[in-house]
Amino acid sequence: MSRIAYVNGQYLPHTAAAVHIEDRGYQFSDGIYEVCSVFGGRIFDFEPHAARLERSLSELAIAVPFSRPVLKMIMEEVLRQNRIKTGIVYIQITRGVAPRDHAFPSTVVPPSVIMTARRFDFAAIAGKQKTGVPIITAEDLRWKRRDIKSVSLLGNVLAKQAAREAGVYEAWMVDEDGFVTEGSSTNAWIVDKEDRLISRALSRDILPGITRADTRTLASELRMEMAERPFTVEEAKAAKEAFLTSTTSLVMPVVEIDGAKIGDGRPGALSAKLAERYWRFVCRQTGMNFGRR
Ligand code: PDD
Repeated sequence: MSRIAYVNGQYLPHTAAAVHIEDRGYQFSDGIYEVCSVFGGRIFDFEPHAARLERSLSELAIAVPFSRPVLKMIMEEVLRQNRIKTGIVYIQITRGVAPRDHAFPSTVVPPSVIMTARRFDFAAIAGKQKTGVPIITAEDLRWKRRDIKSVSLLGNVLAKQAAREAGVYEAWMVDEDGFVTEGSSTNAWIVDKEDRLISRALSRDILPGITRADTRTLASELRMEMAERPFTVEEAKAAKEAFLTSTTSLVMPVVEIDGAKIGDGRPGALSAKLAERYWRFVCRQTGMNFGRR
């Protein structure tokens, strides 16, 4: 069965799905995206993802092309046409097609919208959560509006490639002052000796992760203490625990940073607790059976 993509109002096989060479997303990375997970055929956390998408568009002065119900309907149709029950939906919206000029088009141009969906092996993620993952650190080379989920991801791409070449799961990016910002596609957390969760506060420096927000809520329900502040690479290496969060990694324990073991080299107690609690939260929202995740 060929994969079907949504492209500006049409549902097309991937082989025929294309955007114009003068799409501003292609030429200037002038666009934004979202990635939502899907469990049991249901889009997880649709509302916060839709809210972040609208905010990203508004920060770049790109028109919001659909109401939330229409956005959801198209996402569901893409999932249906691809017969996906467990996977991810990708949404990308750019400023549209116009003759190449850095400034916004002077005439009204409709935004380009594409959506794709694919199966994703969340069972493999559940497996990795049991052992935890190694990561490295890398210089944060990105621009200064990382709170916008823009398709301008070259800094993230280079960091992830460094991780790939080092044979590790992720790279945590580090600012000029030696503080961790976030992972190439994940948010970064540590646990200090007093069992306090530490994660950088939201600002223009990092993406406001939906999984980060959920994890924060779950941690407070579990009466875990949390401090939102930057932490250094040295502090992370000496931390009791470390973990990362994202739509596709959920809560993933980190057991090694730049070759240095975190704690005893196994997932920490709080990280493991949050990882499990997060799965329960996913199951509750999507009606999935916790035992069959
Ligand atoms: N990545 N930080 C960055 C730089 C990210 O790209 C992502 C998400 C996150 C976590 O955000 P969330 O919990 O909302 O997924 C943090 C997505 C999954 C991606 O680019 O594929």
